[in-house]
Amino acid sequence: MILPSTMSYRLSDSQLASHITLHQLQVFAVAARHLSYTRAAEELFLTQPTVSMQIKHLTKAIGMPLFEQVGKKLFLTRAGDDLFITCQEIFERISQFEMNVADMKGLKRGFLKIAIVTTAKYVIPRLLGSFCKSYPGVEISLQVTNHSGILERLTENKDDLYILSDVPNEPDVKSHPFLFNPLVVLANHDHPLAKERNIPIQKLAELPFITREAGSGTRGFVQKLFDTYKIMPKVKMELGSNEAIKQAIAGGLGISILSRHTIALEGASGQIAVLDVEHFPIPCHWYVIHLANKQLSVVAQTFLEYLQTEGKQIAEDTSW
Ligand code: PGA
Repeated sequence: MILPSTMSYRLSDSQLASHITLHQLQVFAVAARHLSYTRAAEELFLTQPTVSMQIKHLTKAIGMPLFEQVGKKLFLTRAGDDLFITCQEIFERISQFEMNVADMKGLKRGFLKIAIVTTAKYVIPRLLGSFCKSYPGVEISLQVTNHSGILERLTENKDDLYILSDVPNEPDVKSHPFLFNPLVVLANHDHPLAKERNIPIQKLAELPFITREAGSGTRGFVQKLFDTYKIMPKVKMELGSNEAIKQAIAGGLGISILSRHTIALEGASGQIAVLDVEHFPIPCHWYVIHLANKQLSVVAQTFLEYLQTEGKQIAEDTSW
């Protein structure tokens, strides 16, 4: 294979490469992540002196301190910080390569990191179940957080794929619509409005309202609709969890607006009713997004395609 000229280098061009080992970099990266030799030793099933020794050799080869101790706390030096970023790139490339090789061998195996908004946790873990059955060699890490948490993780390039409704309007993000995520007005089953039809939206301003926390995507969509119709809700409570809001509704504390998926399991027979309010549902969609310049691993690409197929199936099977 002929390498492009920009890539044609000889290993001997790097003085450092012949003096350090991947294992040392691995130990360093874990210690840098934890800012602790002890926790790195625990994670790597090594002794603390071994971790210390590996980092000492690495520091000597680099010729600059990688950590500094201030009081009892360990910090990365500028060189340490730079090396930590370099390690992340090296290990990501190695893991990509590993997955590509597994794919060449006809095996789908590797690691898949996904971060999803809180409402999507009513759908994604179940889909992961059948995905993992088809690809038992795939290990999954799933983080559940709110909209602003997802954006933070995306900026820090922490995961392969992200699922959310409100796609950031940025050129370096690629998005793929995945599933309808209607936001509906929820109330206790015994609520006087539960049997009414076509309730005027202004009525919502008269009822005690339970809202999601700042940074929630659901809250953002609700706010936009309320702004459009100049609704000033009587906020009775702010809660950071869909489940807690459902419990508060069931307890008769007020109404709220959440994803229809949050009550999919309970169905119409549950304690929570969907109110028929004009301009509802708010027609949101979940999207699978990723950084445009991130080369998706074979596993991430396979999961993305799987989500799109399953999304179509769920949409066909759902009556709302
Ligand atoms: P949230 O996001 O969990 O932050 O409310 C919901 C969404 O993006 O669909």
